[in-house]
Amino acid sequence: MDFDILTLFPEAINYYFQQGLLGRAQKSGLIKVKAHDLRRWTDDKHQTVDDKPYGGGNGMVLKVDPIFRAVKELKGRRRKVKVILLTPRGKQFTQSLARQYLDLKQLIIISGRYEGVDQRVAEHIADDQISIGPYVLMSGDLPAMSIVEAVARLKSGVAGDENWLKERQDGGHGFWEYPQYTRPEVFKPSPRSSSWVVPKMLLTGHHRKVERWRREHGRFIESE
Ligand SMILES: C[S@@+](CC[C@H](N)C(=O)[O-])C[C@H]1O[C@@H](n2cnc3c(N)ncnc32)[C@H](O)[C@@H]1O
Repeated sequence: MDFDILTLFPEAINYYFQQGLLGRAQKSGLIKVKAHDLRRWTDDKHQTVDDKPYGGGNGMVLKVDPIFRAVKELKGRRRKVKVILLTPRGKQFTQSLARQYLDLKQLIIISGRYEGVDQRVAEHIADDQISIGPYVLMSGDLPAMSIVEAVARLKSGVAGDENWLKERQDGGHGFWEYPQYTRPEVFKPSPRSSSWVVPKMLLTGHHRKVERWRREHGRFIESE
C-alpha cells in the first residue's frame, strides 16, 4: 500500500518512516510512505504555495492549484485511492477508519499549514476531511503521520508476528489494549520508598487468567 503525503516540510516525515518496524516494512515492500514537497507542483519562480485569504484576515492559505496538480500526478490512473484533507473541522479519525483505509491501494494525504487550505480542495479534490482530535495543531504533518502509522500497523507483516494481530484484534472487531510490564519484577525508586511491583497474576503463567486480567484492566478500541 502506498501512502503519499503532501506537505511543505517532507524531510522530517520521510526520516521518521525510515526507522524501526515501518522502515523495515518499506524495505521489504509491504508499504511505501513518501512525503512530497508541495512546491514541486508550483509554476512560478518563487514556488508560491500560499496566498492571502479573500475577505481579509491574518495569515496565509494554501493555494488550490499546486494541490490539484500534485494530486493528479500522484494518483495517476490508479484505482482504490482515497484523498484525505486534514483539518480540525473534519470527521474524527478512529480505529474503524484506519481499518477501512487498509483496503486501499493508495492513500494521498494533504497536510495543511498556516490558516489552512483553500476550501475548493475540500469541495473538489478530497474524498474525506479528517481531524485527529478536537484541538488545533500548526500543521497536518503530525496528523498525517498518525494516520499512516495507524493504518500501516494493521497491514499483515508490518508489526512483526502475524499472531499478534489475530490475538489482539478479537475477531476483527477492534483491538485490545492493556497495561504491560517487563523486567525487573520489583523496582525500588529509592532505598526508602516502597517497591513498584508487577501484578502477581502476570507471573502465574496461567494463560487464561492472564487473558482475563488483561481484559479487566484494558480497553477495547472498537473498529466497527
Ligand atoms: C492552524 S490549522 C488551520 C485550520 C483551518 N483554519 C481549518 O479550519 O481547517 C493548520 C493546519 O493544521 C492541520 N491541523 C490542525 N489541527 C488538526 C487536527 N486536529 N486534525 C487534523 N489536522 C489538523 C490542518 O491541515 C490545518 O490546515
